[in-house]
Amino acid sequence: MTFRPGDTVGDRYTIRERIGRGGAGVVYRVHDSQTDSGVALKTPLPVIVQQEKPRQRFSREMRLAARLSHPHTVKLFDVGITPGGLPWFTMELIKGRRIRDTMRIDNCMAPPRAINIAIQILQSLGEAHAMGIVHRDLKPENVFLTDGDFVKVADFGLAVCMADAESVTMLGEAVGTLPYMAPEYLIDGEVGPRMDLHTVGLLLYEMILGQSPFAKMGLREIQSAKQREVPLSRELLHQLGPAAPIVARSIQNDPDRRYANAEDMASHLQEVLGTMEVPRAPSAWKNPSMMVKEAAGVPRARRRPKAEHTQPGRRSDVFPVEVVASPSKSVLTPP
Ligand SMILES: Nc1ncnc2c1ncn2[C@@H]1O[C@H](COP(=O)(O)OP(=O)(O)OP(=O)(O)O)[C@@H](O)[C@H]1O
Ligand SMILES: [Mg+2]
Repeated sequence: MTFRPGDTVGDRYTIRERIGRGGAGVVYRVHDSQTDSGVALKTPLPVIVQQEKPRQRFSREMRLAARLSHPHTVKLFDVGITPGGLPWFTMELIKGRRIRDTMRIDNCMAPPRAINIAIQILQSLGEAHAMGIVHRDLKPENVFLTDGDFVKVADFGLAVCMADAESVTMLGEAVGTLPYMAPEYLIDGEVGPRMDLHTVGLLLYEMILGQSPFAKMGLREIQSAKQREVPLSRELLHQLGPAAPIVARSIQNDPDRRYANAEDMASHLQEVLGTMEVPRAPSAWKNPSMMVKEAAGVPRARRRPKAEHTQPGRRSDVFPVEVVASPSKSVLTPP
């Protein structure tokens, strides 16, 4: 069941238009008559509330997630289930691009820009982890970049509901999520805050190098690759630049070898950011995503990816001035 423009949900939200569809639901732009404002409404897969236990869990987890109030977290407002059994929740309507869309356009990011984004994701996670909430489904689709690369992390609380409602039909969808899953979760179902830190490391890797280490792999290949450490050749480490030790530490398979918490990882990144300048020698930043492919044993493709580092002056070379000029300033302050 889906909604149509004009439908009313929860007695106060009028559907305006469908924004898009993800692996696990549909998102609409709606009008909230109580606040007279536009918000987003998401209907995750009905399968998550088809039984009593998951239904209770959905309400509980989403109410818990609604307590998150960090500026880098997409704010949840309301949660409910329609009389027909369709779960829904409303949230802040975001005007921005997801990292996934930005990567499609820019291909890869200069390290200071990627680090700035990662710090903000970690700040969002820091609040959640302190409240006992693990995201579990961080990926480029769930991180929005608004004006000035101000980060908004979406979909807290949802993965835990999905895990309850295992379904064969969801296996295919898992391919989009699998590359970002920490191995201990994928293999043993072990959950903890450090699984999110692993994913931030993978996001940093992908933002800077232009490609996930699991790109173009199928379900089984990813599952088997996750049993091993992510290969980091000297060349890749070189391309990751000052972010290399942080990426290397956070993507380790053993959670005990990663950072202890989001704050530690963010402060290490902040330190590194303080030492960085805009890359002056573009030739040093050649074609990083090709090296990712080579490390993963993927044959060379014909199309040469656009590396933003090789093209100074492109829009994506412009990261927030405060990051470069005043690295000690918190990225928490909205632009
Ligand atoms: N709060 C929001 N404000 C504006 N647009 C949103 C919001 N949340 C999601 N969207 C948009 O709705 C679409 C679907 O998002 P959705 O979260 O369902 O999919 P996804 O992130 O790709 O996958 P998943 O279901 O695994 O989260 C995407 O195009 C996304 O940009
Ligand atoms: Mg999402």
